Amino acid sequence: MVSLQLEGRTVVVTGAGQGQGAAEARLLVEAGARVIATDLAADMPAELARAESGPAGQLLYRQLDVSDASGWSELASWLQSHGWRVDGLVNNAGITQRSRLLDASVADLQKVYGVNVAGALLGIQSLAPLMGSGASIVNVGSVAGLTAHYPVAYTTSKWALRGLSQLAALELGPRGIRVNTVHPGFIETPMTAGAKPEFRQATLAETPLGRTGGVEEVAGVVLFLLSPLSSYVTGAEIPVDGGQSSHGGAKSVSDALR
Ligand SMILES: NC(=O)c1ccc[n+]([C@@H]2O[C@H](COP(=O)([O-])OP(=O)(O)OC[C@H]3O[C@@H](n4cnc5c(N)ncnc54)[C@H](O)[C@@H]3O)[C@@H](O)[C@H]2O)c1
Repeated sequence: MVSLQLEGRTVVVTGAGQGQGAAEARLLVEAGARVIATDLAADMPAELARAESGPAGQLLYRQLDVSDASGWSELASWLQSHGWRVDGLVNNAGITQRSRLLDASVADLQKVYGVNVAGALLGIQSLAPLMGSGASIVNVGSVAGLTAHYPVAYTTSKWALRGLSQLAALELGPRGIRVNTVHPGFIETPMTAGAKPEFRQATLAETPLGRTGGVEEVAGVVLFLLSPLSSYVTGAEIPVDGGQSSHGGAKSVSDALR
């Protein structure tokens, strides 16, 4: 039977210590997966630990800086030493940097690309060899990667990640490995907790659903993309943004005439 259940599957989630990554790890455990949650901290962060009491799958924690190639090799060797095939990878870890066009430095770009683009590339390179047909990779983009969002390093990194995702879908398709991207809008996490009220207000004004999103709302789409229910979906991009990226600027016109 085709279902959202992931029993018997091993899934690696990066940046799983808090925010969306932690919610994804918790939901995947609930769906029965063995989840290898990874993040920068040496020990399992508290936000994740509550998934351990869940009834279904299993939660394991590993320290991993996604920009560090040797860390990925160690993770791959560790997975192999347990004899675990990898069925899913969620490239969720990401950082932001808010310099604008005339201020952004090359160092800003390199730092953000090191995590948001190279991190995902290293993840795919390291774990695809441990995957078989039916495996699924989900990259976490952003509405910034669908629009001209103002922070230069972040926005261009997410556009680059889209290219990497499409290319990986093409390259790995013949092996039966799917690669898709979710593009969150304004989601309530520690990353957005410090956003200026003006940013929040302006974003809500562009969002047809008129509210920000919750971490579980992104996690649900990630679960779908990892599950056999999406077995013919690859190279796809799914905004999870309350419609923010869907209207091409027409919302203000529509609102003005209401
Ligand atoms: N929150 C939003 O509104 C929003 C919107 C669009 C896209 N996103 C994307 O969603 C993803 C998750 O964002 P979030 O809001 O949960 O962010 P967050 O800052 O709350 O959590 C990000 C996690 O990534 C980890 N991380 C950072 N650098 C890392 C590295 N080098 N190696 C491993 N882990 C690292 C952090 O320790 C943290 O636990 C990111 O890719 C982000 O760009 C978020």
